[in-house]
Amino acid sequence: MMLETNQEAVKQSGVVFFIFGATGDLARRKLFPALYSLYREGKLSEKFAVVGLARRERSPEQFHEDVYRSIQEFARYKVSEDTEEWRRFVQHFVYLSLDINRVEDFKQLQGTANQLEKKFGIAGNRLFYLALAPDLFGSVAHNLKAGGLLECEGWHRLVIEKPFGFDLPSAEKLNKEIRGVFEEHEIYRIDHYLGKEMVQNIDVIRFANAFFEPLWNNKYIANIQITLSETVGVEERGGYYDHSGALRDMGQNHMLQMVTMMAMEPPSRLLPEDIRDEKVKVLRSLRPFTTREEIRQHVVRGQYTEGMHNGKLVQGYREEDKVHPASVTETYFAAKVYVDNFRWAGVPFYIRTGKRLPLKTTEVVVEFKNMPDNIYHAHKTNLQPNLLVFRVQPMEGIYIKINAKNPGSEGAIIPVAMDFCQSCQVGLNTPEAYERLLYDAARGDSTYFTRWDEVALAWKFVDRIAAAWSEDDRDLETYAAGSWGPKGAEELLARDGFSWWPVNGQEAGESVWVTNRPDKL
Ligand code: BG6
Repeated sequence: MMLETNQEAVKQSGVVFFIFGATGDLARRKLFPALYSLYREGKLSEKFAVVGLARRERSPEQFHEDVYRSIQEFARYKVSEDTEEWRRFVQHFVYLSLDINRVEDFKQLQGTANQLEKKFGIAGNRLFYLALAPDLFGSVAHNLKAGGLLECEGWHRLVIEKPFGFDLPSAEKLNKEIRGVFEEHEIYRIDHYLGKEMVQNIDVIRFANAFFEPLWNNKYIANIQITLSETVGVEERGGYYDHSGALRDMGQNHMLQMVTMMAMEPPSRLLPEDIRDEKVKVLRSLRPFTTREEIRQHVVRGQYTEGMHNGKLVQGYREEDKVHPASVTETYFAAKVYVDNFRWAGVPFYIRTGKRLPLKTTEVVVEFKNMPDNIYHAHKTNLQPNLLVFRVQPMEGIYIKINAKNPGSEGAIIPVAMDFCQSCQVGLNTPEAYERLLYDAARGDSTYFTRWDEVALAWKFVDRIAAAWSEDDRDLETYAAGSWGPKGAEELLARDGFSWWPVNGQEAGESVWVTNRPDKL
């Protein structure tokens, strides 16, 4: 969504960003670099301020040094400390040590905010970003109000990170706490997958092209496959992950959001609420799993064991730091999901995600139905279904696989790919998801944030699976680190006569696809 007027508003009336959790990983890796890119690209004028907040004491110099290092390490743009541009940028950053439970600290914060607004000419617009554990959201929201921070002249918005709860009841409780202070339209729930360039491209590709939309239904599409594979293990997040697992960590949010983007109806207007209404309809149409047996048939879970990864032996999940040695938490899951509406009845959406898989990649493959028998089938040589593939990361692009005559042969057919490699055209220096989302929140565009009804429906769907899994763990499979996951995930598709398509064209070993990539389009 492009909100042109709001772009100017951000520059003209300015904004104060309050970053709770300013000494944490997210601030360092994503938020400070994102703010710097927005500044470098002129999306923020001099009318902005950033207040870093955490319990730890930091002097102004130490905080500026933290911000500098984070930008140096993670930002898209190079930075040098001894330039006028850097000095101008960093003077907008202040740090305050704060105890989340002390209302006096929030009153002090209110004083700081007023001073900064005066100093930089900001019209009382406040964006509170909670890069914190969710159990602290309620206290922060309450104290923001008690400390007077919401009595500002302009707007105030709350940006919160996942996980939004652990299940539906805990999410409801959390939502109630926040909604006691903020209106729904003031709450921006982050799902950073929605900030990715190619995820945002899905609706454009679907709705702006005459040759996709007419085919986008159960008459022509055989199945849709969504893969979010990761090479990393649980790293230093064992404590959190062992409690959460792949279904809650990736399934409830990123994966179901991608299903909604693929399956939603065209919105009546390109406005955030209209788009989110359509996504909610998809979530409502998800066929719920009702029995334990159904879940066993449709959902596969796995946990990685020791294995060779990029030429190195890596430990199994149960040996990871802060993971219970007898843990039954899944590090992989795959599911066959149905969207039971007029458009999609009968089309399986296969989704899978896992840690310690061979490649870091996110791809969506649309597999079209085979052509009815025709004269070309007589040659049978390599006739394959048409595919449309969205490559979300690490390379960004789209390709279409079609059948064509093998040049020089007597009518033999080979599959060829028409490949639009976006990263090859514009390079990898496209805005990061956090950059887009932070900017969208500042200009009041909530399209790519999740609304409460989406979150609640997604939990409802996932909770049934989690509840069945908690009854017994007989169906937990293992897979060696560095492999493509448990056998059950292959069987899930094989039973329907399908298989997972290679991601990045690499899974199959030798690629059969011929790539025609024009140097210039
Ligand atoms: C996060 C999950 O939401 O997404 C992590 O908590 C996961 O476990 C990460 O590693 C993946 O994000 P990306 O952008 O690297 O694909």
